Amino acid sequence: MRQEPFDFDGAYGDAYERLARTVIPGYLSSFRQALALLQGRLGPRARLLVVGAGTGIEIVTFKRAEPGWRLTGVDLSAQMLDTAEHRVREAGVEAGVTLIHGTVDDLDAADLDAADLDAADLGAAHFDAATCFNVMHFLPDDGAKQALLRGIANRLPPGAPFVLFELHGDRAAPDFDELFAAWSRYWKIQGMGGPERVEFRARIDAGIHWASEPRIRELMARAGFKDVRRYFRSLLYGGWIARRAR
Ligand SMILES: C[S@@+](CC[C@H](N)C(=O)[O-])C[C@H]1O[C@@H](n2cnc3c(N)ncnc32)[C@H](O)[C@@H]1O
Repeated sequence: MRQEPFDFDGAYGDAYERLARTVIPGYLSSFRQALALLQGRLGPRARLLVVGAGTGIEIVTFKRAEPGWRLTGVDLSAQMLDTAEHRVREAGVEAGVTLIHGTVDDLDAADLDAADLDAADLGAAHFDAATCFNVMHFLPDDGAKQALLRGIANRLPPGAPFVLFELHGDRAAPDFDELFAAWSRYWKIQGMGGPERVEFRARIDAGIHWASEPRIRELMARAGFKDVRRYFRSLLYGGWIARRAR
């Protein structure tokens, strides 16, 4: 069987958080930046959907600052969710946190009941905001990226904020090679050893489905988002905040 380049239920999942802190410029800060942006748009009892909850850093960052927020994290990896559950419990912020194994399409009324929502909340739009960090770049642009964004948009009411953060770039653009080379040097500067850099590069080549910023904006618009603004860029990582359109 072919090994997935990013096996979140295996060795890569075990190493993920250390690697993310090493290779993603401003990794921990990225969640604090999203928090700061969302605090400006949401009230103290907001319901957030966290797509690709990973090891739970984002949920704990949000809950520590906003204990009244109700967070539903979805993730395809049972291993990552175990780590998230442990971290949430250790931080003592489990009240109002629901972790669901699957994708946004697996969210159903039963899960939302478990998220302690009022029956009246169970309409078409279940959340006040959503985030998706470091997920979409793993999906091919064959309809899968679009379906992810549509699934998120479908769970938000008009005007609701959405934060997207991920690797991006147009491989044919003149600046791509320079940025990629700089990003690779950054891994070394951050202390990643030679063999690990070779292995990580192989994972990137096999498992990242690059999209340019204009393509990301197009996918977001087609999914039903408007007012897309980039608030962050560092090397090949970008962060955008948008609103659900009518
Ligand atoms: C690189 S990790 C990012 C985790 C976290 N958001 C972060 O930034 O640290 C990607 C996570 O997304 C999950 N994932 C991938 N595709 C997904 C999907 N369609 N829906 C939900 N989770 C997904 C993986 O299992 C993995 O835990």
